[in-house]
Amino acid sequence: MTLTLTIDGREIHAPAGSSLMQAAQLADVDTPVICYHEATTPNGLCRQCVVEVDGWRVLAPACVTPAAEGMEVHTASERVTRARRTLLEMLNASIDLSQAPEIQQQMDDYQADRERFPGAERRAPAMLDDNPFYVRDYDKCLMCWRCVQACADDLQFTYALSTGGRGYNSHVTTFFDAPMPETTCVFCGNCVAVCPTNALISKTEIYLQQGLDYDSIRREKRNQRRAQDKKGGAQ
Ligand code: SF4
Ligand code: FES
Repeated sequence: MTLTLTIDGREIHAPAGSSLMQAAQLADVDTPVICYHEATTPNGLCRQCVVEVDGWRVLAPACVTPAAEGMEVHTASERVTRARRTLLEMLNASIDLSQAPEIQQQMDDYQADRERFPGAERRAPAMLDDNPFYVRDYDKCLMCWRCVQACADDLQFTYALSTGGRGYNSHVTTFFDAPMPETTCVFCGNCVAVCPTNALISKTEIYLQQGLDYDSIRREKRNQRRAQDKKGGAQ
């Protein structure tokens, strides 16, 4: 079955079951996203992909809203633009986005004021460096859940990562906050690959940035593994 709707005034025929984001792609309209990733199940968490639908009171997150017959959708109205800009400004006020180039580009595109909300309380948990493969720097985490989903049913079926806390204190963690080597993690790297902000970053990348060559990196990682094995044996 095919649906007919309009996106920014252009009539589109989309397969039934399409999201508004997929329908917009048929009209050559790219929707900006933050939490959405093609490898993980869309959750509609960030709201950066919102669009305006005629007759709807609230803006609709395009990644999770099903397209419907006769909808009239606006992806670049003033209301949509303001919502996306404000969201970027709030995000920028609360976490470190310095290593999120796609979000930085969106801030430029939407002319976000990087100095808005100067008094906002920033999330600044300590960096977690507990394994030879990657570090977790959660002051860059925007809680998109991509890593948790990649670790679970979307990719790896390992369930080493989970969410903890509530509201402002919600965060990504492990069961009982265990260090990574004490979890079911197999260090596949899928979580690192889907993280949009470099909150999860591979140690190889860090060492390369520090100017180490591959032999030195191998040595460094071997030493870390031995130190951790020794620590584990002593417990
Ligand atoms: S660590 Fe990265 S992938 Fe995981 S929730 Fe935070 S920002 Fe998203
Ligand atoms: S990209 Fe759609 S809600 Fe985050």
